[in-house]
Amino acid sequence: MIRLGVNIDHIATLRQARYRGAPTAATPEPDPLTAAQVCLEAGAHSLTVHLREDRRHIQDDDVLKIAGRFRTQLNLEMAATPAMLDFALKVRPAEVCLVPENRAEVTTEGGLDAHGQAQILRPILQKLREAGILVSLFIDPDAKQIEASISLQAPVVELHTGRFADAGEKDRPNELNRLIQAAKQAHQKQIQVNAGHGLRLSNLSSLLSVPHLHTLNIGHSLVSHALTVGLKASVSAFLQAMQKS
Ligand code: PXP
Repeated sequence: MIRLGVNIDHIATLRQARYRGAPTAATPEPDPLTAAQVCLEAGAHSLTVHLREDRRHIQDDDVLKIAGRFRTQLNLEMAATPAMLDFALKVRPAEVCLVPENRAEVTTEGGLDAHGQAQILRPILQKLREAGILVSLFIDPDAKQIEASISLQAPVVELHTGRFADAGEKDRPNELNRLIQAAKQAHQKQIQVNAGHGLRLSNLSSLLSVPHLHTLNIGHSLVSHALTVGLKASVSAFLQAMQKS
C-alpha cells in the first residue's frame, strides 16, 4: 500500500496570514499541531513540514512541538544549509527531505541539483545519516539526478511531480514516462521512491501507474479540499453558537 504523507505547511500559512507578528490574547489558529494529530488519526502515515529560511509558514516552534508528539512520523523538509543541519540535529525527526530553496519562489519550483551540488550535499547527508535520520533528496525525474543520488548513497529520493501535475493532456504521457523511468532506475539500486508536488484527487489515478511508489507527500490540494468539504460543518457550528444567544 502506498503511504500518504500530509504536508501541513498551509495550515501555518493560514495562521500567519492573520497572526504574523500581531500581539493578541487570542489563541492563534489554525494550529499545525492539532492539524498533525487530525491527519494521523484520519490514517495519514506521516507528516511533512518545510521550515523555510524566510519562515513564511511553519515556525521553529511548530516543528519542535510536532516533533515532541510525532517524531517518528515527521518528515522535515529543509534547505541543505549549515543552520538547517544544526536545527535538524537538534529536532531529530524520523526523516529529512533536502530541497532547493529560493526566497522569491511561491513554492519549491524544481528539484535539487544533486549532481551539481554533490560537494555540499555529501557531508550534510553523512551527518544526518550518523544521527539516524532517513534522508531523501527531492529531485526531478532525471537519470543524471538519480545517478547523483546513488553516488551520494541517499536511501530515499522524492520525485518532483510538478511538471507532471502542470502538464496538459499532450505532454502528460511524456512527464508520466519520465517518472516511471526514474522510479525504475532508483528502485533498481534499492533506493526508496517517494513523490510529491502538485498532486490532486484528479491526477492521482494517473500517477499510480508509476511503479515502486512508497510515499506520496501531498499538501496544497489536500488542505484546499479540507476547506471545501469542511465549510458546511463550520457554518453550522457558527449558526448554532449564534442561536444560543
Ligand atoms: N514534497 C515536497 C518536497 C515539497 O516541497 C512540497 C511542497 O511544499 C510537496 C511535496 C507538496 O506539494 P503540494 O503542496 O503541491 O502538494
